Amino acid sequence: MNRNHIGADAQRVDGVDKVMGRPIFAADLILPRMAHAVPVPAAVGKGRILGMDVSEAERVPGVLLVLTHQNMDLLKPVGFVFAGGQAIQSHQPLQSNVIAYRGEPVALVVAESLEAAWEAAYRVHVDYVPEPFAVELDAPGAETVVQAAALPWFHDFVSGDADKALSGAAVVVDQSYTTPRQHQNPIELHSAVADWEGDRLTVHEGTQASQTVQQGLAIALGIDPGKVRVLSPYVGGGFGSKNSMCFHSVMAAVASRRVGRPVKLVVPRAQVFYGTSFRPAARHRIALGAEPSGRIVAGIHETRAQTSRHDLFPFTGAETTSRMYGIPNFRGAATLIRLDTQTPGFMRAPFEMGAFFALESAMDELAYRLGQDPVALRTANDTQVDPITGKPYSVRRLKECLQRGAERFGWARRTAEPRSMRENGTLVGWGVAAGGYPGAVVPVVAAIRLGVDGVAHATAGGHEMGQGIRTALVLVTADELGLQPEQIRLTIGDSNAPPQHITAGAWGTASAGPRIQEAAGDIRARLFELASAKDRPLAGADPAGLELRNGRIEAPDGRAIGITELLRLAGLEYVDAESHQLAPGLPPDAVSRASKGLVTLVGPEFPDFVTFSYIAHFAEVRVDPRVPRARVSRMVSVVDCGRVVSRRTATSQVYGGLVWGVGAALLEETEVDPRFGGFLNNNIAEYQVPVNGDIGNFEVDFIDEPDPQFNSLGAKGVGEVVSVGAAAAIANAVFHATGKRVRELPIRIEKLLG
Ligand code: MOS
Repeated sequence: MNRNHIGADAQRVDGVDKVMGRPIFAADLILPRMAHAVPVPAAVGKGRILGMDVSEAERVPGVLLVLTHQNMDLLKPVGFVFAGGQAIQSHQPLQSNVIAYRGEPVALVVAESLEAAWEAAYRVHVDYVPEPFAVELDAPGAETVVQAAALPWFHDFVSGDADKALSGAAVVVDQSYTTPRQHQNPIELHSAVADWEGDRLTVHEGTQASQTVQQGLAIALGIDPGKVRVLSPYVGGGFGSKNSMCFHSVMAAVASRRVGRPVKLVVPRAQVFYGTSFRPAARHRIALGAEPSGRIVAGIHETRAQTSRHDLFPFTGAETTSRMYGIPNFRGAATLIRLDTQTPGFMRAPFEMGAFFALESAMDELAYRLGQDPVALRTANDTQVDPITGKPYSVRRLKECLQRGAERFGWARRTAEPRSMRENGTLVGWGVAAGGYPGAVVPVVAAIRLGVDGVAHATAGGHEMGQGIRTALVLVTADELGLQPEQIRLTIGDSNAPPQHITAGAWGTASAGPRIQEAAGDIRARLFELASAKDRPLAGADPAGLELRNGRIEAPDGRAIGITELLRLAGLEYVDAESHQLAPGLPPDAVSRASKGLVTLVGPEFPDFVTFSYIAHFAEVRVDPRVPRARVSRMVSVVDCGRVVSRRTATSQVYGGLVWGVGAALLEETEVDPRFGGFLNNNIAEYQVPVNGDIGNFEVDFIDEPDPQFNSLGAKGVGEVVSVGAAAAIANAVFHATGKRVRELPIRIEKLLG
C-alpha cells in the first residue's frame, strides 16, 4: 500500500476553504427571520435579585422578549461534565433570584436586530441585595475541600514514603510556585444559533462537544434527545472553553422556542470571561530530595487550586508530575478552594501547565543546588517503568527529546553561572524544561462509504477546532484507500453521527485515526475480494499481493482495474464499512456512554502499559539589565508524540503551544476584583496575550517513532503536551539571565526590578 500522505507535510484539507472564508461558523450563520439575543450580566459579586424592571427594555423598538428568572423555563438539572454530566458547570441560567457570582446572566434580551438587543440589554434594571463573596485563594470565606476525600475517583498519587525519604535526603528543594487564573479566549466567541421546526431543535454551535451539548440540551429542556441535533463542523478555537454545554446554548434554545423564530446568541467577549470555564489559580508545593549524585529519591507535589461553590473541579496535575521521573518515593495530592466564580475548568494542558511550571522550576533549582547540568539531571532520572503502577511505558522518548533538543539548541555552549552570558550588554539566559501529558483514548465509531463516483464519504467522532483533526483523518483515509485527500468527504462534529466525543485532552487523532483506518482497511479488503473473484478483471490474483493506488487496484502481473469500473461491474453503488472497535481498557458500554455525551475515556494507565506524550523545551531569553523585561528570542522544542500523522498541523500545534508558553510565562493573568467580584481585565486589550513581536525564532522537531502498543496508528497526543513545561523553560532561562528565581507567573517587569 502506498503511504503518501501520513507523515507528509501536506497542507490542511480545509486550508483553502478557510482562507477563502467559506466555512460557516455559528456566529456567521444567517437564517430567515432570525432574531438576536444579548445576555445581561449580574453586577454584584454575589447576592440576590430583589426586583427587576424590564419595562424600559421591552419598549425598545424591535424587542421581542426579555427573559429573566421570573419568566424563564424551569430547566431540569444537568450535571457538571467532570462529575458525570454534560454541562460546563451545574449552575444553570435564570433559574432563581440567587446570584452565585458576578457576570452570570440575569436576563436575556431577544430582538429583531443585534443593535436593538444591545440597547435593551442596557435598559434592564436590577435591584440587588449584595452578599459577601470570595474570589481569591486566601480570602476569608473561601472553603477548603480535600480532593481525594471528596472525589475518591481523583485519588492521590503515591509511591513509597515521600516524607520519610525527603527528611533523609542529602539535598532538598522545597518551594511554593503560583500560577494565576487564565482565560482561554478563542478568537471565535461562544455562539449558538437555535432553530426549532415543530418539536425538533437544531443548534449550530462551534463546540468541542456536539454530542454533549445535544444531550445536555435534551436533558435541560426535558425533551427526547432524538429531537435535538447539534452541528459543529468548524470551531474557531476552543482550548477547553467549549468542551461541554454552556449557558448560551440553552438560553438560545429557550428563546427560540418562545419567539417561534431562529435565535442567534453570540456571547460578547466581556461575558465570555464568565460564560464558560477558565484556568483556576493554583499554588503548588514541590519538594524534591536527592542524593549528592543527583539521584532523586523523594518528591512531593501538593496543589491548592480554586473551584466554585457549586462544583468540584479536580486538579490532577500530580497524575503526570508523579511519573515524569523515576522517583521511588512520591506523594501527590490536591486541595480545592471553593470561591464565588463560575466553575473553573479545562484550559489547554489544564493541570499540567501549572504543575510543570512548578516541577520543572524545582528541577532547575535542584540542578543548581547539586551543581549539575539541568539536562543531565533530567536524563539521569529518566525511567522506562512507571513508578506509580510499576507498569512499563509503551513508548517513552523523553531522554531523546532532551538530547536532540540540547544538540539543536547548542546547549553545550552554555555557562552555568547566572548572569554569565551577555551580548552587547544584554543579559542572555538559557533554560531547559520538560513536559508530559497523559495519553488517553475515547470511543469512536468510524464509517466510510466509497461510491461508484470514486468519492469516499466518511463519518467519525471529532471536532475541528483548528488543531487539524480533519486533516489527520483525511490523510489516514486517503492512504488506506489509495485516493487523494480531495476524494475524501469527512463529516465530524454532527450529533447525528454518534458518538461525537468531547474533543479534548489531545486524544482526538489517537482515538479516531485507528478507527477510520480500520474502516478503510475493510473497504480495501472488500475491493480486493471483488476484483479477484471469478470472472472479474483480476480473477485468480492473491488479494494479499494487490495494491490500491490512485483509484486503481493493481496486481503484480500488471493487470489493473479502476475502483469505479469495478463497482459498476459488480453492480454496486458503493461499498461501505464501519469500525467500532474499543481501545483496550475502555468499558464495554463506552460507545453508549459517549453517545450520552458523557466523558468516557481510558488512559494514561492501560491494562498492560502506561502512556504519556513528552516534550523538551530549550529557551533563550534576553533581558536588558536597565529595563528588565524578559523577551524570548529563541526556543527549540522536541516532541515525542508517537507517529506524526499530519506534519503540517502537528508542527503548527507545537508553535501554538510555544506561543501559549510565552503567554503563560510573561503575560497572561486574569485579575480578580476583591472589592466587587468578577474579572477586571475581561477583554483582550487588557488580558495580555503574545503578539508577533513577542515571538522569537522557534524551532520544532519530532522524534516521530510510532507507539504501536498505544494504538495501531502509533499516534499519541500532541495538542496539549506542547505547552507543558514551556513556561518553566522560559522562567529557568530568566533565572539564568538575571539570577532572579520568579516562582509566581507571569514574570512581568516588576518581578525582575531591583
Ligand atoms: Mo482541552 S483543555 O482538553 O478541552
